[in-house]
Amino acid sequence: MSYRQFQEQVSRFAGVLSKHGVQKGDRVLIYMPMTPHAMVAMLASARLGAIHSLVFGGFGGKELATRVGHAKPKVIVTASCGMEPSRIVQYQPMVQEALQLSGHQPAKVILYNRPVFSVSLPSEQWCCWDEEMASARPHDCVPVDAMFPLYLLYTSGTTGLPKAVVRPSGGHAVMLHWSMWNIYGIKPQEVWWAASDLGWVVGHSYICYAPLLHGNTTIMYEGKPVGTPDAGAFFRVMSQHKTTGMFTAPTAIRAIRKEDPNAELAKQYPLTHLRNFYVAGEHCDSETLHWTREVMGVPVLDHWWQTETGSAITASHMGLGDEGYPTPGVSGKPVPGWDVRVLNEQTGEEGVLQEETTEADPGDLGQIVVKLPLPPGSFSTLWEHDSFFEELYFSRFPGFYDTMDAGIRDEKGYIAVMSRADDVINVAGHRLSSGSLEEAILEHPDLADCAVVGLEDSLKGHVPLGLCVLKSGVTKPEDAVLEEVVALVRKTVGPVAAFKKAIAVKRLPKTRSGKIARASIAKMINGKPYKIPVTIEDATVYGELAELFTKADICKN
Ligand code: COA
Ligand code: AMP
Repeated sequence: MSYRQFQEQVSRFAGVLSKHGVQKGDRVLIYMPMTPHAMVAMLASARLGAIHSLVFGGFGGKELATRVGHAKPKVIVTASCGMEPSRIVQYQPMVQEALQLSGHQPAKVILYNRPVFSVSLPSEQWCCWDEEMASARPHDCVPVDAMFPLYLLYTSGTTGLPKAVVRPSGGHAVMLHWSMWNIYGIKPQEVWWAASDLGWVVGHSYICYAPLLHGNTTIMYEGKPVGTPDAGAFFRVMSQHKTTGMFTAPTAIRAIRKEDPNAELAKQYPLTHLRNFYVAGEHCDSETLHWTREVMGVPVLDHWWQTETGSAITASHMGLGDEGYPTPGVSGKPVPGWDVRVLNEQTGEEGVLQEETTEADPGDLGQIVVKLPLPPGSFSTLWEHDSFFEELYFSRFPGFYDTMDAGIRDEKGYIAVMSRADDVINVAGHRLSSGSLEEAILEHPDLADCAVVGLEDSLKGHVPLGLCVLKSGVTKPEDAVLEEVVALVRKTVGPVAAFKKAIAVKRLPKTRSGKIARASIAKMINGKPYKIPVTIEDATVYGELAELFTKADICKN
């Protein structure tokens, strides 16, 4: 699509939203597959000064309901279906379920009926994208202040509370525009591809806003690195569209490498225009990095960021002349504006800071924080949770933004991000909260308690493992209950949680204040040295668990 064609659609769809009452400051929730319509809906909201909130298609009805209930959108924009390699994902039933559960009713639900799977509209509350567009009148841009929210994007934390990052408009636009050349080394008019999904922050920033602000061609791809149809897909798309720069998560590369270790399919597609390849979303192991460099024949650059930050905190700055081959395992140096520090961990048993914090020596693992103020363009608050925003990110290390990541700074100032310091599990580059998975699991009537921890996985980095305590007196076989638990999480949280493993345990290790000691369980399961917290109520539970994990063949060692 040309910029002109796209602008025409965006201004017409802004007309549709306006006709249904959407005004500056209203929320528009977008739950759509990777078709240009999703991006049209985003930009049409922005055109009206409305605040869009995209929900990734891999989330199920309950997760969607939480977001609907919290964002209270004036309009929901959806589609009849999305395409996954092995199935068609139907959106309408999920939206209907969410509307029932959320207690909020939008004025309209606009549905794009895809030719491949068309549905009929269930009520007057629903209307059809094509019909609305056919009679729509274009709408002009509505000006907003620089700090006015552009969008809300929900992310995961330790608790199951909805955490909607609020992104301000002006500074973010400047930052994204700046990054295209200075970080990614891309000139206007070149072709750029961020192989992510619009539902994630990478999709917001680098499928939609940054390349379009910078005058690039952006590629939108509804497919996977493997299975659509094969492990050559990324190379085919890059070659066909003369892509200059590409960005994906290391897990996508691991998937390709697993299917085509010698990159035979890749060889069919010359990458004549590719200059640099970028990875982010999770720690990139050096084997994956080396393999990618060899196959792509260009620098492969790891960079680190978060939903909260909207763009990279550390990176190699290709437009500023940084070297293209930093040591594998590091994710570059701080981006201008980010004063990154690594602090010694001197925390008490339950995460309470006990002594004054000091900076860690080069090479020592510590808590990564950013000295305030944050640069323009990062997040400004959590939607309707100002006090939670302050408490969560700024109270543990006063004067700093707590990234909740742990890592190392070397002598030269390169940062390596090693792990999360909270109860977040990174599954295939997606962030999932143990708390919200546990909440979903506990909806099963036969369970008394549960804990979710990340189990290392050669493809996805980690996958969630549920430790379930069954209620006494349950007569159903354990395996049947666990199967139901897996199905329940798939239905409520969604397939993206990749929650496929649950085991029954008698009890969980808990501190005297009732906190589940997830970190020590995760270390134990992944064959890492672990310390039993001194505040644990009954340390003998670790012996029980060790025996059980060995029996179930779950422990790495
Ligand atoms: N709508 C509906 N369902 C979706 C979905 C979507 N948009 N995206 C994923 N799912 C489903 C998948 O179909 C799968 O369901 P299944 O259990 O029935 O197979 C499940 O959610 C897990 O999906 P996914 O994480 O994609 O795993 P996978 O095994 O299908 O594929 C990879 C593995 C590595 C190929 C895939 O995770 C990938 O491409 N990762 C790239 C990571 C990425 O884009 N990260 C963004 C941050 S940069
Ligand atoms: P999300 O907000 O879903 O994008 O997830 C952000 C989290 O992913 C970060 O806090 C890190 O834990 C992890 N992450 C992102 N990029 C990297 C990277 N390059 N190296 C290591 N971890 C990363």
